[in-house]
Amino acid sequence: MVGLPKISDVRGNLTAIEACMHVPFPIERVYYIYDVPSGSTRAGHAHRQLQQLFLALSGSFVIHLDDGRTRQSFALNRPHIGLYVAPGVWRTIDDFSGGGVCMVLASAHYTEADYIRSYAEFTEFVGRGGPCNAEADGGRDAE
Ligand code: TYD
Repeated sequence: MVGLPKISDVRGNLTAIEACMHVPFPIERVYYIYDVPSGSTRAGHAHRQLQQLFLALSGSFVIHLDDGRTRQSFALNRPHIGLYVAPGVWRTIDDFSGGGVCMVLASAHYTEADYIRSYAEFTEFVGRGGPCNAEADGGRDAE
């Protein structure tokens, strides 16, 4: 989990996020997931090289992480506490509250070749050395 600055005064709270200061990568892309129907599950994939920081801008949700060995779940429900997700980690997101907004800061532009969308491919990827070998791997499973 990554604690972000929370600047509070009588008018409310403000959180600022600066690339390479609060997140360990240059921010190339921001996207957000919202209006998620109750009971929906998002994600269900891993990335070969992408680094991300997940934040609950509003409401709450749960992120489940699996690095091929260990599984851990994190409830996000505060806009100043983020979750850093490294490459080579399978993730699913569920249990969205009403009004839940998941904002994601990402280290690269969108590219489908960076996705691993099959769990069997993910376990093979991890077995080949995971992100440490991703460049040599060249996204071959995505083709
Ligand atoms: P996807 O990553 O599959 O969503 P989730 O994280 O819930 O699995 O993305 C859903 C669709 O949106 C898919 O068609 C790809 C597209 N998309 C973009 O065009 N740009 C983006 O930055 C992202 C994250 C997704």
